This record gives sequence, C-alpha cells and structure tokens, in this order.
Amino acid sequence: MSRFRMKCFGLLLLVLLLVCSNFDGCEGRTGKHWKQKKSPSSSMVRKKGKGKNGSGHSHNAGGHSHSGGGGGGAHHLSPPPSPKTGHQSPPPSPKTGGHLSPPPSPSPSPSPSPSPKTGCPPASKATMFDVLDYGAKGDGVTDDTKAFEDAWAAACKVAGSIMVVPAEYEFLVGPISFSGPYCQPNIVFQLDGMIIAPTNAKYWGSGLLWWIEFTKLRGITIRGSGTIEGRGSVWWTNTESDINPDVSFETDIDSDVDPALRFYGSSNVTVTGITIQNSQQCHLKFDNCEAVQVYNMTIASPGNSLNTDGIHLQNSRDVMIHHTNLSCGDDCVSIQTGCSNVNIHSVTCGPGHGISIGGLGRDSSKACVSNITVRDVNMHNTMTGVRIKTWQGGSGSVQSVKFSNIRVTEVQTPIVIDQFYCDRSTCKNQTSAVALSGIAYENIKGTYTVKPVHFACSDTSPCSDITLNEIALEPLQEHYHMYEPFCWQTYGELYTPTTPPIVCLQNGKPASNRILSDRDLC
Ligand SMILES: *[C@@H]1O[C@H](CO)[C@@H](O)[C@H](O)[C@H]1NC(C)=O
Ligand SMILES: *[C@@H]1O[C@H](CO)[C@@H](O)[C@H](O)[C@H]1NC(C)=O
Ligand SMILES: *[C@@H]1O[C@H](CO)[C@@H](O)[C@H](O)[C@H]1NC(C)=O
Ligand SMILES: *[C@@H]1O[C@H](CO)[C@@H](O)[C@H](O)[C@H]1NC(C)=O
Ligand SMILES: *[C@@H]1O[C@H](CO)[C@@H](O)[C@H](O)[C@H]1NC(C)=O
Ligand SMILES: *[C@@H]1O[C@H](CO)[C@@H](O)[C@H](O)[C@H]1NC(C)=O
Repeated sequence: MSRFRMKCFGLLLLVLLLVCSNFDGCEGRTGKHWKQKKSPSSSMVRKKGKGKNGSGHSHNAGGHSHSGGGGGGAHHLSPPPSPKTGHQSPPPSPKTGGHLSPPPSPSPSPSPSPSPKTGCPPASKATMFDVLDYGAKGDGVTDDTKAFEDAWAAACKVAGSIMVVPAEYEFLVGPISFSGPYCQPNIVFQLDGMIIAPTNAKYWGSGLLWWIEFTKLRGITIRGSGTIEGRGSVWWTNTESDINPDVSFETDIDSDVDPALRFYGSSNVTVTGITIQNSQQCHLKFDNCEAVQVYNMTIASPGNSLNTDGIHLQNSRDVMIHHTNLSCGDDCVSIQTGCSNVNIHSVTCGPGHGISIGGLGRDSSKACVSNITVRDVNMHNTMTGVRIKTWQGGSGSVQSVKFSNIRVTEVQTPIVIDQFYCDRSTCKNQTSAVALSGIAYENIKGTYTVKPVHFACSDTSPCSDITLNEIALEPLQEHYHMYEPFCWQTYGELYTPTTPPIVCLQNGKPASNRILSDRDLC
C-alpha cells in the first residue's frame, strides 16, 4: 500500500516538474549553502534514494531537478490570512500509478485535479503538499527551511491538508514556526523522512525557544514513521550526574527548556508514529494546549544528555500520552504548572529521571496541577520513578494524583516527594509552599538502588492524604548499604503492608492545616 503510494508520488512529482519548469518560482533561486561536512547519514540517504527505483521515476530524480529552495533562516512564518501569495503552488493533484500519463495542462490550477485515472486511490479530499515540490532537496546538507515554509504556507490554507515530508530523505531545517492562527483546521504533517537540525551555532539565535514550532492551530496532527533528529550532542556537557540521594536531587537541572518540537496555544493536537531523538534540550513540549494525544512514538537520547526532558507539559489540559518509549537525560515526562487532566499510561521510561510533576513554585510562583494519572509504566535505570518536586516559597496546589501499576528496575529512588527542591547547592529556607494533597501510590513494585521512598514535605504545609497500596520495593543488591524509607511531614494512610515497611508515614491529617489564602486557591 505505502509503496503503491510512493509510486504515485513519484509520478506526480514528475508531472509537477513538467508543470513547474515553466515557472521561475521553481528554479534558479540560489540557495544559501551550509558550510558543513556531509554527515555520514546524508550519504546513506543518497544511497537509499538510488535504490528506491520503483517506477523508474524516483523522487530522487525529481529532487535534483529542483534547484531552488535554499536561503532559509526566516523565522516566525505567519501565512497571511488571504489565500494569495507570491509563490505559485503546484497543483496538488493526487495522481496515477504505473504508467506515464500525459502531463496536465501547464498552468497551475488552484484546485486539486481529481484524476484518478489509473491505479492510485485518490488521496481522499485532502490535499497534499510535498516539500520536494517546494524545492526541498532532502540531501542532508542543503538548507531546506524555505521549502518547508513554502509548503506550509500552501497547506495552511486548506482545511484537512497534508504536508508531506517524504521517506528516505534527510531534510536540514533551521528554526521554523508553523503558525496559525489564520490556518485552516485539521492539518496533517506527514513525517516519513528525517528532519535534521543545523549544528552551526549561527542558526540558533539567542533566546530562541524552539527548533520546530507549531502554534495557534486547531487540529494539528504529526504522524508517520519519520524522525526528528536534533543532533544535540554539542549541547550536552559530558558531566555525568552523580546523585547524592541524601540531599535534594541537585544535579537535576530544572531550567526552562528549549524543545526540539514545540506546540503552543493549539487544540486537538496529535503526535504519533514518529521518533524524536538527540534533542538539543527538551524533545517535545506542549504549552497552552488542550486535547493533546501522544501515542505510538519514541523519544530517544542517551542517559547522559544533560537537560533533555522527554515530554514537557505546561498550562495544558486533557492530555493523553500512551504507548510511547521514552529515554533521555532528564525527566521522561515533566508536568508543569497549569496542567490538569493528564493521563499517561503504557509507556516506558529509561534511561532518564523518571516521570515528574514539577519543579513547581520556583521564584515564589503559584502553581496549580490537578487530576493526573500515571499507570502501567515500566521504568528501567532511572534516577527517580514517580516524583513530585516543588521549590520552597511557592503557592498553589497539587491535587488528585494517582500513580499505579509502575514497574521499576534499577531505579535509584522509585517514589519521591521533594518540597525542598533546589538546583543549586543551597536554597533559602522559606515558609510558603505549593500544597500537596490526594496523592495515591498503588501497585508500585520492583528494585531500587538507593532508597525506596523519599517523602520530604513542607513544615508549614505538610503533605496530606498520601496513600500507599501494594508497594513492594527490593534493593537491587542487598549487601550494599541502602537508605531506609524517609518521610518528613507526610500524612496519609497505608492501605496494605509495604515492602519495606514504611513506618514514617503519619496517620490521618496534619494537625494544623494552614489556612489557605487566595494566593493558594487554584
Ligand atoms: C533504476 O531503474 C532503471 C530503469 O528500470 C535501471 O536501468 C537502473 O539500473 C535502476 N537503478 C537502480 C539503482 O536500481
Ligand atoms: C477537537 O476535535 C473534535 C472533532 O473534530 C471537536 O469536536 C472538538 O471540539 C475539538 N476540540 C477542541 C478543544 O478543539
Ligand atoms: C506505530 O507507528 C509506526 C510508525 O512509526 C507504524 O508503522 C505503526 O503502524 C504504528 N502502530 C500503530 C498501532 O498505530
Ligand atoms: C517500545 O518498546 C517496546 C519494547 O522494546 C516495543 O515492543 C514497542 O513496539 C515500542 N513502542 C514503540 C512505539 O516504538
Ligand atoms: C479527571 O480525569 C479523568 C480522566 O483522566 C476524567 O474522566 C475526569 O473528568 C477528570 N476530573 C476532573 C474533575 O476534571
Ligand atoms: C533550612 O532548614 C533546615 C531544616 O530546618 C536547616 O537544616 C538548614 O540549615 C536551613 N538552611 C538555611 C540556608 O537556613
């Protein structure tokens, strides 16, 4: 089926070329070429491209005929609301299979030409916008940013359109924003090829907050079997974290993160199928989004890649993350302030720092997080398992959190609440804190390497309604000195006996719950 499609695309491209060759827009623009060595993978792409020879009219041939498309570097692409642009879009017709059909009339038509003469199924009502048709080379060396911007500008105007990044090509794309708000709803970004980041520092302006951004869209889906490759190793320092479990988790850097792929201010967002790897910092971030689905995808970076969160959620609600494998150098999933109704299940985490809520309340800020469930998770070789971390001095609350069916193997500290979170060597002691209540731990089993449970709650705002059910955590190597379970100002209930026994949990409610001020209400 997909090969079939491929053929169709190949032929379509050839036809488009004939059309295109009549237009200045398709040729003769000299691209800005990137001064960098060919990466080994780019030659691999070319080899693969050659092998892809289905109909005798491969994409590769098409790619070579496109000579434009360089000169990227434009940021914040905001397509105008009017459907007119300077760039003439090639007719985005779903096309035919096996045999060369006569080229269509050379004038580009703004509407999809519905001519499924031969074998190819029509691409439903959706309209395809292939980056190769907009001058992308996909050789891993040429800057294809402009081509991506142009393809997007066209796709943006058509509801339910599909922007295609074809397989077996490697597209070098600089910082780019695929932005609404004037785009039509329900656009699909079909990523089957690879998008690679520039490694040249000049492309990364200071204060840039993302590499690839989708913003202010209603209905945006990224799908396919492709890869977003951040080539982030130059961003990581080689300092291996070494954890002193007795103190806070100091080596866990908690600064703002610049994601490889960022969604902002969008609703009905889906990310599926793809791989995001070797990100500069965070891999995938959702900020101010609602109705988010992430599933059947992979995030992969080495465990020593500093500051590389897997998925970062902020001010977002109704988020589902499932059937996803996460390995990275920081939190596999990080849930920040303003998140509610987040449901994470059937994921793996490791290496990484675990699944975390927080750090919340930094710089005396107010944080509100509620209704979070994390279940059916496998964690291997992570720093923590499930964790809530807050800074001293914050306000607001974390409520209704459930962690269940978590398997841990070789996890340093599987269960953590840390209300003294601090990424420096010391932080000022302060009285106010983000209030934690209604945190349930259920069926958490496996092996730890440092400490099974660490609950460090605020003196002025003790944790309440912490419940533990079916907890069984064994030290990986019994002969090593291990830490006992630790609790401080932690109130709640053990529903079942635990392994090891957690005798430090205080029964019932904290005696003096501080009066919540307006500042604390969420
Ligand atoms: C591609 O197909 C053409 C025509 O069928 C053939 O001559 C050529 O050897 C093929 N190339 C590869 C790399 O398979
Ligand atoms: C998401 O899409 C569905 C169906 O297309 C629609 O009913 C719903 O209102 C959308 N939700 C948001 C938050 O945009
Ligand atoms: C998961 O994604 C891959 C592409 O990476 C795709 O081939 C596969 O069909 C997807 N599986 C499901 C169950 O959606
Ligand atoms: C995640 O890893 C498991 C085990 O290796 C594998 O079976 C599964 O297909 C992977 N999921 C994805 C989305 O790649
Ligand atoms: C909490 O989340 C669940 C599903 O994750 C949802 O069914 C429920 O309505 C949410 N509760 C509130 C108060 O939003
Ligand atoms: C903060 O409080 C803790 C516990 O009461 C105490 O051990 C520590 O010295 C204090 N730190 C500072 C910087 O005051």
